[in-house]
Amino acid sequence: MERGAAFAYTEMVSAKALTYKDARTYELLRTFPGETHIGVQIFGSEPDIIAQAIGLLPGGFASIDINMGCPAKKITSNGEGGALMKNSALAAALVRAAVKEASVPVTAKMRLGWDRNEAIDFACTLEEAGASAITVHGRTVSQQYGGKADWDAIAEVKRALRIPVVANGDALSPEKANALLLYTGCDGVMIARGALGNPWIFEGANAQYSGEAPRETPQAERLETAKAHLFAACEYYGENRAPLIMRKHLAWYTKGMKNSAAMRVAFNACVTAREMVAVINNY
Ligand SMILES: Cc1cc2nc3c(=O)[nH]c(=O)nc-3n(C[C@H](O)[C@H](O)[C@H](O)COP(=O)(O)O)c2cc1C
Repeated sequence: MERGAAFAYTEMVSAKALTYKDARTYELLRTFPGETHIGVQIFGSEPDIIAQAIGLLPGGFASIDINMGCPAKKITSNGEGGALMKNSALAAALVRAAVKEASVPVTAKMRLGWDRNEAIDFACTLEEAGASAITVHGRTVSQQYGGKADWDAIAEVKRALRIPVVANGDALSPEKANALLLYTGCDGVMIARGALGNPWIFEGANAQYSGEAPRETPQAERLETAKAHLFAACEYYGENRAPLIMRKHLAWYTKGMKNSAAMRVAFNACVTAREMVAVINNY
C-alpha cells in the first residue's frame, strides 16, 4: 500500500478453521495499525459455515472475498477453492449466504473454469447471487499457473456483467498491468507474482496509467526496502519464524543484482534477522 496499491487482501483463510477458533488462522488476519483498504479472503464449500465464519471475523476489513480459484489439491479435494468452478450452484449459494451475513461488500475470485472456459455463465451466476465485484484470473484451474492468461476471456466476462470486474493474470510489470486494463476494459487489475520482491510495481503501474514513465528503482532503495520488509516480518511473525519466511523474499528483492546468487546462498544460511541484515549491509 505504501507503494501505490489501492487495495490488498489477506492470505486466504479457511472458513471452517475460523469456526473452530483456530489460533493460527486468526493470526493470518492480523494487520498493521493504520492499514486500511484490506479485504479478507476466505475459502469454504458450505454456505452455513461461510456465514458462521463471517460472523466471527474481526472488524476493519473493507470487503470479504470468496476464493473460487485455488488449484491446490488439498483445497480442491474438499470441494473448496477452484473446485467451485465445477459447481456454480454451490458457488452462488456461498455468495448468497455471505451477502446475508456480511456488513461489507462480498466479492469472489474465480478462474475461467475447471478445465475449459465457462467463465461468463459462472460470473453471471455470481452476479445474480449478489456479488459486488468479481476478479477473474484468466486461466482454468487445470492450468494452475502455466501457459498464458487468456485476456480475451476476461474481456468477455467484463462485457457480460454490470458489477465491477477486476482482471488478473500475467500483469508482471507496470506496462503489462496497464495493457491488461486497457485490453480487457476491466475496472481494475490485480497484481500477484509481479509484486514479489518488487512492491514498486504498483507505483510504476500508476505512473504508467497517468502517462508518465515508471522510474527505475535504485539498488540502494531495493536493499533498504528489503531490510524494512525483514523488520516488518519480524514484528509480524516473530524473530524465530521471520528469517525462514524472508529467505525467498530477499532472493526476489536481490534478483538480477550483481553476485545475487552468492547473496541467496548467504541468506539461506542465515538463522537470524541480524545475520540477514549483515549480508545486505556487506553487499
Ligand atoms: C505464492 C502464491 C500465493 C497465492 N495465494 C493466493 C491466495 O491466497 N488467494 C488467491 O485468490 N490467489 C492466490 N494466488 C493466485 C494469484 O492471486 C493470481 O491469481 C495468480 O498468481 C495470477 O496472477 P499473476 O499472473 O499476477 O501472478 C497466489 C499465487 C501465488 C503465486
